[in-house]
Parts: sequence; C-alpha cells; structure tokens
Amino acid sequence: MRIIVHNDKCQGHARCWAHAPDVFKLDDEGYILAGDIEVAERDELLATRGARSCPERALEIDRA
Ligand code: F3S
Repeated sequence: MRIIVHNDKCQGHARCWAHAPDVFKLDDEGYILAGDIEVAERDELLATRGARSCPERALEIDRA
C-alpha cells in the first residue's frame, strides 16, 4: 500500500504521526515531509488510521 501525500493541504495537525510515527515523518515545524510513502505490510493498519485521521484530507490511501 502507498500513501499519496498532498503537501499543499497539510496544516501541521500531526494526527497522522500520533498514530504511526514510524510511517509519517514531520519536519521541524510539524508538517508532513514531501513525497509519497510506501507502507510495509506490518504498518498498514496504523498507517490507515493515521491517514484517515487527517482533518485536512492530505493523506490519500492507494491500494492499487
Ligand atoms: Fe498534516 Fe494531516 Fe498529518 S494536517 S501533519 S498530514 S494529520
């Protein structure tokens, strides 16, 4: 699974990181780092929760 990161939507809420700090990396100001994220199978549950928790819908789940 992959997470498509829409950096332009991120407002630094850090809810994604609270669910899965190993998956979602933030910069010094608390914004998600640029670039899509390849998620290992073992991290999929937490990553899905984290992506869904973003109030700005900045994290799009791609299961293709
Ligand atoms: Fe940004 Fe949403 Fe995470 S606003 S820091 S992508 S919870």
